[in-house]
Amino acid sequence: MAHLFNRNILLGVSGGIAAYKSAELVRQLRERGAWVRVIMTRGAREFITPLTLQALSGNPVHTELLDATAEQGMGHIELARWADLLLIAPATADLIARLSAGRADDLLTTVALATPAPVLLAPAMNQQMWRDAATTANVATLRARGAVLVGPAAGEQACGDVGPGRMEEPPVIAEAAARLFASGVLDGKRVVITAGPTREALDPVRYLSNHSSGKMGYALARAAAEAGARTTLVSGPVDLQAPDRVHTLPVTSAQQMLQQCLALARECDIFIACAAVADYRPAQIQQRKIKKGAQQTSLQLVRNPDILATVANLENSPFCVGFAAETNDLLAYARDKMQRKNLDMIVANDVSDPAVGFGSDDNEVTVLWRGGEAALARAGKNTIARQIVELIARCSAADH
Ligand code: PMT
Repeated sequence: MAHLFNRNILLGVSGGIAAYKSAELVRQLRERGAWVRVIMTRGAREFITPLTLQALSGNPVHTELLDATAEQGMGHIELARWADLLLIAPATADLIARLSAGRADDLLTTVALATPAPVLLAPAMNQQMWRDAATTANVATLRARGAVLVGPAAGEQACGDVGPGRMEEPPVIAEAAARLFASGVLDGKRVVITAGPTREALDPVRYLSNHSSGKMGYALARAAAEAGARTTLVSGPVDLQAPDRVHTLPVTSAQQMLQQCLALARECDIFIACAAVADYRPAQIQQRKIKKGAQQTSLQLVRNPDILATVANLENSPFCVGFAAETNDLLAYARDKMQRKNLDMIVANDVSDPAVGFGSDDNEVTVLWRGGEAALARAGKNTIARQIVELIARCSAADH
């Protein structure tokens, strides 16, 4: 069974007797891991209530184009952008005709025009309507524009006729939807990523930390989710918005980050440590603010656990990717780290150049793995992240 982890499926339901099957379809999509939102046409609401689809999808059902309250929640343009796939099931002859004509006379047809997402149609109509030259031409037009059809099936129809026009069964439609996404290089993988700095408290108002902004780790999380992975981001304190479709767990200190990672590591396929974890923490956290006094003072620090090495040395450890932030002898230090920590791959990051590395929008890295290496030329962190994810997909597939 192909899955739909993290995929945003916008289900359009138009007004045919097969609309009653959309309840089961929502259940099937959710079972495969998709997030589902539903748009119903006026006709669809004659066959099944919005409440049923709201309960099953876990989201309010969208029905009206010109509804100020609904537009305040999630407007039609946001819905169109939210969708990874617009699935219309059932797609009646009338709906297919309106789509083919490019009409925007209700919410569903308007969103269909406004979405950049692929469109999957599950036609459902009387066999003669399906065979009609007008429907044939409309379907051909939609196919030529890139729409994909699942069904219709042939057999006995609700009206008593026998022939093609029955909507495909929900499991077949859900499978067709899932197959449209099957090209993601990390499809079905579970990925855990650490990002940002850690903060090691000295007293109630002070801490030790570093300049990591979290940009690189967040870009990796977006790239992994785009590649189809079920992605969890364990993030130190940063000023970034949690990426869409990524389960984000905020932590503060290295010890908290370790606890979260250990709880997730046994259940993941790939672990990417991009966080700049503080190597040391104050031996004691003072309960009260430390008062200024002597001209000189000293801090006693203790070593923090190495999160990446701990995960990489677990029994049945995931495919482990580390980062090496270095200011000199980059590749030699990176190779040494890869070996010492027992890693499958390491991303060597020269942080002596302020244009790449900590806080910058760009990066430039060399990726090393057991059988090779690749230098990734300077580019935005999103681009670098996608290239790293491609390499991880290739190497982890060869490894396991
Ligand atoms: O967040 P940005 O501003 O976008 O910057 C990105 C970055 C420069 C922080 C990132 O690209 C990067 O290089 N991250 C690793 C920083 C680092 O701490 O490197 P390190 O060489 O000290 O650590 C080696 C590896 O061990 C890293 O994968 C690190 O996450 C991990 N580690 C280190 C110490 C520790 N106690 N636990 C760990 O897991």
